[in-house]
Amino acid sequence: MGSPRIPGCTGALVAGGRATRMGGVTKGLLRSGGVPIAERSLALFRELFDAALVVANDPAPYARLGARVVPDRIAGRGAPGGLHAALSAAGTEWVFAAGCDMPFLDARAIAFLAERRAGADAVLVRFGDRLEPLHAFWSRRCLPVLERLLRAGEPSLRDLAEAVGARVIDEVEWRLVDPEGLAFENANTPEDARRLGLELTPPARRAGALGAQPHRAPQQDQEDAMELVRWVEENRDRHFSELVEFLRIPSISSSSEHRTDVARAAGFLEAEMRRLGMDARVFPTEGHPVVYGEWMGAGQGKPTVLVYGHYDVQPVDPLPLWKSPPFEPEVRDGALYARGAVDDKGQVWLHLKAFEAWRSAGGPPVNVKMIFEGEEEVGSVHLGAFLDRERARLAADAVVVSDSPMFAKGVPSICYGLRGLAYLQVDVEGPAMDLHSGSFGGAVLNPANALARIIAGLQDPSGKVLVPGFYENVRKLGARERAETRRLPFDAKAWLASAGNPPAPWGEPGFHVLERIWARPTLDVNGIWGGYQGEGAKTIIPSKAGAKISMRLVPDQTPEEIAEKLTRHVKRLAPKEVKVTVTNLHGGEAFLSEVDDPAFRATERALERAFGRKPVLTREGGSIPFTATIQAALRCPVILMGFGLPDENSHAPNERLDLDNYEKGILSAIYLYEELAKAPPPEERRASPRAGRAPSPRGPGRARARGGPRRGRR
Ligand code: BES
Ligand code: MN
Ligand code: MN
Repeated sequence: MGSPRIPGCTGALVAGGRATRMGGVTKGLLRSGGVPIAERSLALFRELFDAALVVANDPAPYARLGARVVPDRIAGRGAPGGLHAALSAAGTEWVFAAGCDMPFLDARAIAFLAERRAGADAVLVRFGDRLEPLHAFWSRRCLPVLERLLRAGEPSLRDLAEAVGARVIDEVEWRLVDPEGLAFENANTPEDARRLGLELTPPARRAGALGAQPHRAPQQDQEDAMELVRWVEENRDRHFSELVEFLRIPSISSSSEHRTDVARAAGFLEAEMRRLGMDARVFPTEGHPVVYGEWMGAGQGKPTVLVYGHYDVQPVDPLPLWKSPPFEPEVRDGALYARGAVDDKGQVWLHLKAFEAWRSAGGPPVNVKMIFEGEEEVGSVHLGAFLDRERARLAADAVVVSDSPMFAKGVPSICYGLRGLAYLQVDVEGPAMDLHSGSFGGAVLNPANALARIIAGLQDPSGKVLVPGFYENVRKLGARERAETRRLPFDAKAWLASAGNPPAPWGEPGFHVLERIWARPTLDVNGIWGGYQGEGAKTIIPSKAGAKISMRLVPDQTPEEIAEKLTRHVKRLAPKEVKVTVTNLHGGEAFLSEVDDPAFRATERALERAFGRKPVLTREGGSIPFTATIQAALRCPVILMGFGLPDENSHAPNERLDLDNYEKGILSAIYLYEELAKAPPPEERRASPRAGRAPSPRGPGRARARGGPRRGRR
C-alpha cells in the first residue's frame, strides 16, 4: 500500500474484557469482505507500526491471528482498563488503540491523527460531546496518570483526557478525512453487523460432516484454517465429553487385571479414527495392541505426517492422595484431572480433533497416519517388532509426537532430545527362609545387607555412576548448546517446588540442572525390598532382597551395552555368600534430532500461530522408546510438540491437563498440517540416508534456543 510508516508506535486492538460473541462468532472475527476484521487491522498495523498486539481477556479466539495477545488484567473498567493493558504491554513510546471490531480502519485516517501528536500525550476525537478512546493515539506518559485514576474506579474519558494533556480533534475537523465517520463504526449488535455488511454467520461448511472432498489449493488453506478454528470452538463441548469418555477407561498397561480395559481403549480409538474417515485397525502384538490408521486423501504429491501417541496409562497408586477418582475426570481451576489426562490420552485426543476439524472441511493438505501404542508406560517391549513388520506401512516425511511437557506455562516448546533407558532388576537370595537374627546373625550373610553394599557400589555421593565404562560413549554437550540451555527462562525456585521441595538440589557438579536432566546419564533405584516392613520390630535375617534399577541414557550409550555393563559390575560387587541374579527388563535408546530442518521451521510457525509466541527448543529427561526407533527406521524428522506442563503430575496422583494448552494444542496441530504442506520437501534427506546406529548424529552446538524471557518490556 506504501503508506508512510509511523515508527515508535504499537498498534493495539482492544477486544474488551470478554470476547463478545455475535451469532456464534467472536466480534473481531466477524468477516468483512471475507477477512476477519481483526486480521485485517493487524495486517495494517504491521505495515504502519513497529509492533501489533491484541488486548483480550480470553486470548483463545485471537491466538490464531499470530499476534501477541495480552490480557486485560483489570477487565471491567471499560476502555481505560484496555488502554492500560495496551500501554503496559507495548514497548514503544506510542500506542495506537483501536477496537477489534472496527472494520474500516484506514491508513490515511490514522496518519491524520499521528501528525497531530506533537506536544500532546494523547490524540483523540470528539463526536458531539462524546470522546472516543479508540481510534486514538496514547503515549506512555499516560500510564502513571491512568494508573492513578484506575485506582479510584473507572475514570471518565473527560477526566483522563484532561489529566494527561490530550489533543482533542473535533468532529468537524475529523470529517475532513473521514466524511462518513466510517472509521469509528463498529458492530455491537447483529443489526450493526448487517448494516455494515459484515458476515455474521460462518459461511456454510463445504459439504456436510465428513464427506470425501477433492483437495483444495494451498492458498485457500490459510483462509480455511480460520474456519477450522471456529469449527473447533463450536464443537468444543462435544470434543471435551469424548475425551472424558476416553479417560474413563482405566487402560493401565502394567496390570494384567486391566488387560481388557487396555483393549477397550484401543477399540475406542479405532472407532473414532474410522468415524473420522481413516482406514484404521487394531494390530495385535505379543503384548497390548497397536492402533494404526491412515488417511491418504491429500494425494501422492503431498507430504505424509505420522502422528504417534500412547493410550496406555500409569497405575494410580497411592489412590488416597487423589482429590477426585483417577478415572472419573473432573475439571478444577482450568485443568482436567484424570489419570492419562496429560500422559498421554489428552495429547492423543487433541491430534484426533485437529484432524477432525480438517475433515469437516474436506481434509488436511497433508496425508495423515496415526499410530497409538498401548505399552509405552511399560517400556514399549513389543513395539520394535511391530515397527519392523510394518515399516513400509509407516513411511512418512515427518513424525509428530505430543507426549512431552512445554518448558513452562505460556512457553510453547519443541523438544529435540530425550534420554534413553535401561531397566534392570537385581535379586539377592540367601537362606531358603527367613532366619532368627539372634540365632544366625553374624554367621549367615544377610541378603538385604549384601544388596545395600551392591547398591552403594553403583554410584558415588555426587551422583557419578561407578559402573566401569558407563561414560565411555557419552556424547559431550557442545559449548553452544550449553550456552543456549543456560539462556532459557529457568526458574530454579519454581523448579525445586515442582520437585516437591527436597531440602536441597543435588546432582553432578559442574552441570546446570537442565543439563543434569536433559543430557547426563543417571542411575536410580526405583524400588527396593527385602525383610520385614510391618509395624514395630521383627528380628530376622530375610531370605531375599531385591531392587529395581534404572539408568537414563544419553547418546551414544545403548541400552544393551549399559545393561551388560551394569550386570557385570553387580556380579563383581556380589559377595559369594549370596546368589545374585540380574534381569534385564527393558530398554530404549536416547533420542536426539537435528533441528535444522524445514519440518522444525513448520512446527515453529504452527506453535507461534497458536500461542502468539515463538517456541523454545528443549530437551527432556524422560524417555519415549518409539522416537529413536522410528527415527532410525524412517530417517525423517521426529518432532516432539508437547502440550503438557512440568507440574501436571504425570505418573503421580492428581494428574491433570491444562485446558488452555489442550485447546492451543488442537490449534497447533491444525496449523502444523498447513505449515507442513507449505514446507519445502526434504529431498536431501531422502537422497542421503544416514548410516550408523546412533540416532541422528548431531553436531555439537546446533541447538538453538528461541524465545526466552522478554527483555526491555514494561
Ligand atoms: N511421556 C513420558 C515421557 C516423557 C516424560 C517425556 C517426561 C518427556 C518428559 C512417557 O509416557 C513416559 O513416562 N515414559 C517412560 C518410558 C519408559 C517406561 C520406557 C519414562 O520416561 O519413564
Ligand atoms: Mn507419555
Ligand atoms: Mn508416562
